[in-house]
Amino acid sequence: MLRVAIDGPGGTGKSTIAKAVAVRFGLEYIDTGAMYRAIALKSVRTGVPADDVEAVTSMLETTTIDFSDNHVYLDGEDVSGLIRTNEISMRASDISKLPVVRAKVDAVSRHIASVKSVVMEGRDICTEVLPDAEVKIFMTAAPEIRARRRYNQLLEAGKPADYDQIFDEIQKRDYQDSHRDYHPLRQAEDAEFLDTSYMTIDENIDAIAAIINEKTGNTAV
Ligand code: DC
Repeated sequence: MLRVAIDGPGGTGKSTIAKAVAVRFGLEYIDTGAMYRAIALKSVRTGVPADDVEAVTSMLETTTIDFSDNHVYLDGEDVSGLIRTNEISMRASDISKLPVVRAKVDAVSRHIASVKSVVMEGRDICTEVLPDAEVKIFMTAAPEIRARRRYNQLLEAGKPADYDQIFDEIQKRDYQDSHRDYHPLRQAEDAEFLDTSYMTIDENIDAIAAIINEKTGNTAV
């Protein structure tokens, strides 16, 4: 079994990079943020406030979450195409503060990693979800650079984009994700630090492949 754990703030390109690493090493790719986003979507749909612990707890009692083949399932429905909005990003950051929500996502994530070799990315994978992972990486980039990448992505997709607004949202989510009481985003002491600010996507993938080779002797398939 090989478990590659990647943590880092939002907009760092973790998903793009982790997917490519999964293909190269024949691993299952698990996006834990997508599961928090699916729970956030349900709370928006059902009008359950993200800070109402009792209401969120009872909502979760009748909620199933799963992640496979790059898709996230909420109560059996593929919601992958519905969770990449600003509203859901902020709601996911809000609702992920609750231990009851984290327990739900952690249970699904740990189960998958117990039956498959994985590359799993999120905020607390190295620190809490898979602290025994063979490879642990903390990936980050300067907030201005993450905002610029996101801004360019939106423009290329022909969507409206406001750099200042994107930058503000990135900073707000960074603060919230790293200052919550329970399982905040932080670098695990034994995680490799990777600043991708000035790396291309290919350089970033190669850097992670090199860390995997160094830690495990595993060479890409
Ligand atoms: O990686 P992402 O942007 O899709 O994550 C959305 C939100 O979910 C993020 O702002 C905080 C939360 N999250 C978390 O608390 N722990 C994780 N392991 C992954 C995401």
